[in-house]
Amino acid sequence: TKPNEDYDLDKPISSTSGLRQGLTSYGDAHFSLFLRKVFIKALGYSEDALSRPIIGIINTFSGFNPCHANVPQLIEAAKRGVQLNGGLAIEFPTISVHESFSHPTSMFLRNLMSMDTEEMIKAQPLDACIMIGGCDKTVPAQLMGGISANKPILPLITGPMMPGSHRGKRIGACTDCRNNWAAFRAGEIDVEEISEINEELAPTIGTCGVMGTASTMACVTAALGMMPLRGASAPAVSSARLRIAEETGANAVAVAKSSSKPQEILTKESFLNAITVLQAIGGSTNAVVHLLAIANRHPQLQGVITLETFEEIGKKTPLLIDLKPSGDNYMNDFHNAGGMMALLQVLRPLLHLSAMTITGKTLGEILDSVPTKKFAFDQDIIRPLSNPLFPSSSLVVLHGNLAPNGAVLKASASKDRHLLTHTGPAVVFEYSADLAQRIDDPTLEVTKDSVLVLKGIGPIGNPGMPEAGLIPIPKKLASQGVKDMLRLSDGRMSGTAGGTIILHISPEAAVPDSPFGIVETGDLITCDIESRRLHLDISDEVLKSRISQRKQLLEAEAGPVQARKQKRGYRGLYERSVNQAHEGTDFDFLTANGPVE
Ligand code: FES
Ligand code: MG
Repeated sequence: TKPNEDYDLDKPISSTSGLRQGLTSYGDAHFSLFLRKVFIKALGYSEDALSRPIIGIINTFSGFNPCHANVPQLIEAAKRGVQLNGGLAIEFPTISVHESFSHPTSMFLRNLMSMDTEEMIKAQPLDACIMIGGCDKTVPAQLMGGISANKPILPLITGPMMPGSHRGKRIGACTDCRNNWAAFRAGEIDVEEISEINEELAPTIGTCGVMGTASTMACVTAALGMMPLRGASAPAVSSARLRIAEETGANAVAVAKSSSKPQEILTKESFLNAITVLQAIGGSTNAVVHLLAIANRHPQLQGVITLETFEEIGKKTPLLIDLKPSGDNYMNDFHNAGGMMALLQVLRPLLHLSAMTITGKTLGEILDSVPTKKFAFDQDIIRPLSNPLFPSSSLVVLHGNLAPNGAVLKASASKDRHLLTHTGPAVVFEYSADLAQRIDDPTLEVTKDSVLVLKGIGPIGNPGMPEAGLIPIPKKLASQGVKDMLRLSDGRMSGTAGGTIILHISPEAAVPDSPFGIVETGDLITCDIESRRLHLDISDEVLKSRISQRKQLLEAEAGPVQARKQKRGYRGLYERSVNQAHEGTDFDFLTANGPVE
């Protein structure tokens, strides 16, 4: 063995490889590097391998996460891309969060996953990091953590599942989960049929195959410039998906060499592009919360991207994609129609083409690199600007005395558009258990004109802001054929769901001086889509006195507020630190510049 220059105490350690960075742990940098090599060599790596750029690959495989079941194959393909380009790929785990197996909610665990991601990227000697995610909360968690860590990051998405088939009709998770369950509740289909449907709703691995939160975040991540455009839509089970993984590996080595950090790549314009795409795809309301959380991790963008940004962009942006829940089709149709590349060609006049991407090219340069005539795209799936599915404002932001800090409504997913401008008496449920107990009670005083109100499902309230905002139509009305009602909550709704549903009301009812907390059954509530107004028809005096009475009551009880201070563990941390929906429901201590007020 030759003497190794790394151990020459008279020379500074000089190399670009991550193994040689941040060598402060043991006082003497040479000894720190010596120790690192001792341990990593236990895995059999050679000096040659260890002199390469080190590309970390985050493994979020879990037996409880079918949306991530292809992660082992993606790792293999990404490693191939890294190693063919002269890097060394090293995988490591973080937590994996699936929608259905994340009690109390996946949103509750999103911030934990973001902390895990951030700290492991910071802690380990890597030059760039491929973050494999897919299921709803995982991609936002990884972007949040990756931006905060501010080392080069490359999201790699697991991809959507294929649709299934039931009695000659295509079906897919999870818009059709909900439609069919509603039909079953209304007695339109029987228990045999609903059991058959259960077998076909998720017929392959991968993320939900409609424009739910996972697909939305995939499209948004591509629009941010952080990954190849095809990476947004290639099916989880396709060979294209593996080639994207290989390409991501190759990109990772280039990004490691140029050391392009997410806080440099991502600008205000990147987010404006992402929000334009969100509006044009009729994306999930959850993406609003996630994008706010992601932007607020960026020191230059915290408080710059706000709910108003979504509203302003919405006014200029038509809904162009005919996918469930706003339309009729599935993610593989979007992919076959040209996916994000075709969509962005259509959206070109609305985009900031100078926005930088992970490849070192601007978005405009990427769009220019493909001749448009290559996209003889299916104009039923990706509509031209001249023939949109919905003229503008797929997602709208409402304000009013009921939601001083805003509320969100996916107008394009409303089933009865008359309800977008509606006044009706409130039927109030104080929390989820109250709703479960009374919603199907035949004596519940409710008509199709009532406004269903569910409190206590906000960020703190439940906790973790569950997707319980899709309040079911009371059984007695459903069986009369009522399909939609105006519904309000401080919670979220699955991106795969539809209806006239106002969500994310801020401040949430659990906040002692929340106006939403004082709504009573019988109060008149007005939603006016034109003026973007959400109003409780009581006088300012009554509103104020109800708020102060409730506040006194909550404080006298030493109730929820006191109890939160004492809760142990992650739940205690969550309830004490989570901010409101209009801020991203992140922890106040994780945002770039501290709490936003
Ligand atoms: Fe993972 Fe829908 S459950 S994306
Ligand atoms: Mg979902």
